[in-house]
Amino acid sequence: MIFDFNIRQESFGATLLDLSDGKRRYLTKDELKNIIYHEDYPMDINTTSSEKVKYTKLKPNERLLNHLSFADIVYIELTRKCNLHCKHCLNDSGNQLNDELEYEDIVNLINDMVKSGAQEIRFTGGEPLMNPHIFELIALANSLGIYTSIISNGTLISKEIANQLKEVGLKKAFISLDGSEEKNDKIRGALTYKKAIMAISYLQSSGINVEACSVLMNNNKDDIINLYKKLSKDKIHLTIRDLVERNRAENLIDEKINNSDYAFFLERMNHIDPNYYSIYKEEDPRLQQVFKKAIGFRINHRKLYISANGNIYLNDVSSVSTLPFGNCKEMEDYRGFWNEIYKQNYLKKIRENIIA
Ligand SMILES: C[S@@+](CC[C@H](N)C(=O)[O-])C[C@H]1O[C@@H](n2cnc3c(N)ncnc32)[C@H](O)[C@@H]1O
Ligand code: SF4
Repeated sequence: MIFDFNIRQESFGATLLDLSDGKRRYLTKDELKNIIYHEDYPMDINTTSSEKVKYTKLKPNERLLNHLSFADIVYIELTRKCNLHCKHCLNDSGNQLNDELEYEDIVNLINDMVKSGAQEIRFTGGEPLMNPHIFELIALANSLGIYTSIISNGTLISKEIANQLKEVGLKKAFISLDGSEEKNDKIRGALTYKKAIMAISYLQSSGINVEACSVLMNNNKDDIINLYKKLSKDKIHLTIRDLVERNRAENLIDEKINNSDYAFFLERMNHIDPNYYSIYKEEDPRLQQVFKKAIGFRINHRKLYISANGNIYLNDVSSVSTLPFGNCKEMEDYRGFWNEIYKQNYLKKIRENIIA
């Protein structure tokens, strides 16, 4: 079955994910009731006449008062194997780990995550395309009614691969590019810029939504501004991330941008695109409406990260190499685990660790 919407019940109502564009809306209880019982969607949600909804209903004790009832996005590293050896790689990818999850483990994991209420699975790595089962895994996740995306270096994406990804239901691809051709190739290796740009065009032509992502460093801060302008012309959004000094990036201390350069960078970005930083501010009035009573809620608390050997981290790739909460090979109850995180205030501790 092809689903149009994924709705997860929450203490305040529900989180609705539109599977066509990946946008989330936070619904009040009344809005949820109208959708479920009367198929009546709020005015700002575009619907057609044949909505197919994947609905995750929760028992009262599973609805978390001040937080989302499960992670929205689950990142899964499909392998640590990588065809590149980038200088800044924060999870030291290159070789396969000797205790990586098997195909069956990942199938079980996807099923369990979806049952628990995950709304998006974002496959990463290493290079996710180096896992020979990637197409089956995307097809599985897609058939379960969730949004599927990949983070890739793009160098293995030909026209045929892009079409195959589209066929199995991939909704979005994040392609990494770290500045101009010269700067990117210094960090990522020869010809990687050209190949990534080709991948973006193949993916776009196949109908997959594409976004680029860059890691901001001292040596590429000017190039990233130019890359942003260049990609905007082709209607491609560029997400800019800070350098995380872990694993191979520990050798790049001089590349970490200082506070005043960062402020200057933001000012320049703001000049090119005044909306760039505001898109991260979660200004959705609907969100403010439903959460005004939820003291302590932080919208960012919505990600889980599973490394190639099954370790579970809160947040995204930046949390790898902090202390994992556990390993999915030993985990039976993900919803219980998610609730436990909040009860024990794990999140706060991890955030402090990441920041420290
Ligand atoms: C580890 S890679 C795996 C996916 C794929 N191989 C790629 O490069 O896109 C995931 C993302 O982390 C980013 N990344 C790598 N090293 C980083 C670092 N030191 N700090 C911040 N992001 C980093 C990459 O640029 C990429 O966008
Ligand atoms: S950043 Fe991505 S492409 Fe580069 S080595 Fe790491 S996993 Fe591979």
